[in-house]
Amino acid sequence: MKHWRIDDVCWDQFDPSRLDPSLVSLVKAAAMVERNGPDYGTYLNRVFHDDPDFGAAADNWSVEEVQHGDALGRWAMPADPGWNYEEAFARYKTGYHLPLLDADTSVRGSRTGELIARCIVESGTSSYYSALADATDEPVLKQVCKLIAADEYRHFKLFYDHMKRYLRRENIGFLHRLRIALGRVGESEDDELAYAFYCSNSAPEAPYQHDRCIAGYMSRAMGTYRYHHLERGIAMILKAVGVPPRGRLASLIVSIAWRFMQRRQRRFAAQVAA
Ligand SMILES: [Fe+2]
Ligand SMILES: [Fe+2]
Repeated sequence: MKHWRIDDVCWDQFDPSRLDPSLVSLVKAAAMVERNGPDYGTYLNRVFHDDPDFGAAADNWSVEEVQHGDALGRWAMPADPGWNYEEAFARYKTGYHLPLLDADTSVRGSRTGELIARCIVESGTSSYYSALADATDEPVLKQVCKLIAADEYRHFKLFYDHMKRYLRRENIGFLHRLRIALGRVGESEDDELAYAFYCSNSAPEAPYQHDRCIAGYMSRAMGTYRYHHLERGIAMILKAVGVPPRGRLASLIVSIAWRFMQRRQRRFAAQVAA
């Protein structure tokens, strides 16, 4: 069951005088990836084929992800008149295919690993939409991002609870779980987001260049984060791998990650400027 519907958003409060073009380009790209949720839902159903409870939860999850895409796409069309959400998504769908579409078992090597990877994604999206909500002065985008961030947090909880159940059964070690989590964090710079940024912000005749597109996306996306957004995302990641999410170790990890992220953001921004 959805926790909100697109018609709950106060669309009539849209204020074009408060738009930030940099955020508009991020929202358009995010709409592509969100709308693509059902492909991942299909894969999850194959991986968890004998777990009907989880299968039903994954189906519901993918319906909510599609709604995220639809809400962001609906917001972005008047924000960038001339841009068409459905056309951009059709372009994305034609050119990008999840690398795991044919897999019958988890590409993470176990169901626990799969669920840890899902927790990492939801940690990222939950903190990211909170950052976007705080970064924008446009009231409708702020409302949409807050609604999505709350969903993403619930998604984290969903995958986390199932992960704990599978961890008791599969009992994979801490270092293995940590490796899966770090690997999934690194994948955020793969084609999924870069190609979404390309399809939603470049003319079809322009060539796709991964490095240029991921720099365009990441320089802006990382720029929306404040310390507390990263702190929240990392607390969730630590919880997923079994490290206490609060305390001295967690604070140290956040401060290192913050410096790393700022440096990376500057590098991406320099690439864009060049
Ligand atoms: Fe989402
Ligand atoms: Fe989600």
